[in-house]
Amino acid sequence: MARSDELIQELEHSDYVVIGTPMHNFTIPSALKAWVDHIVRVRRTFNATKEGYKGILRDRPVYVAVSSGGRYSGGLARQPDFLTPYMRTVLGVIGFTDVTFFSVEGSSLDQEAVTEARAGADRALREHFSPSCVWLHSP
Ligand SMILES: Cc1cc2nc3c(=O)[nH]c(=O)nc-3n(C[C@H](O)[C@H](O)[C@H](O)COP(=O)(O)O)c2cc1C
Repeated sequence: MARSDELIQELEHSDYVVIGTPMHNFTIPSALKAWVDHIVRVRRTFNATKEGYKGILRDRPVYVAVSSGGRYSGGLARQPDFLTPYMRTVLGVIGFTDVTFFSVEGSSLDQEAVTEARAGADRALREHFSPSCVWLHSP
């Protein structure tokens, strides 16, 4: 309980949350699941009501950076994705609804695919954090 309190207080004092995670067996790795199990706590970070779960924590931006050996989104995906819907749902339970995902998908593919995936992630980050900027070329 002491560790759970500590991790929840860390969230309560944060302006935003950044999570970096690989995909393991189509979802989050067990270490991240252990963190989830410490911070999603009834009557502390959420209440169970007749209408469903109600988050207690103040909403704030959450950024989740995902790396995966294969692709899990888009037309070339050949595997299911239980990671993004799970994280969106479980963070929503405690009150975090402003969740943005960035990904480098295909880290085990050939070098060209990895370079492309990294460039895509860079682009997505720039577009998200500097929406008014026009990027003419990559530095
Ligand atoms: C136990 C384990 C399970 C994995 N499961 C998946 C998976 O389901 N889908 C996938 O695309 N990659 C999977 N991978 C590959 C990792 O997601 C990939 O290597 C990722 O780039 C690791 O992140 P890192 O490079 O930041 O360490 C798995 C790797 C490990 C070790």
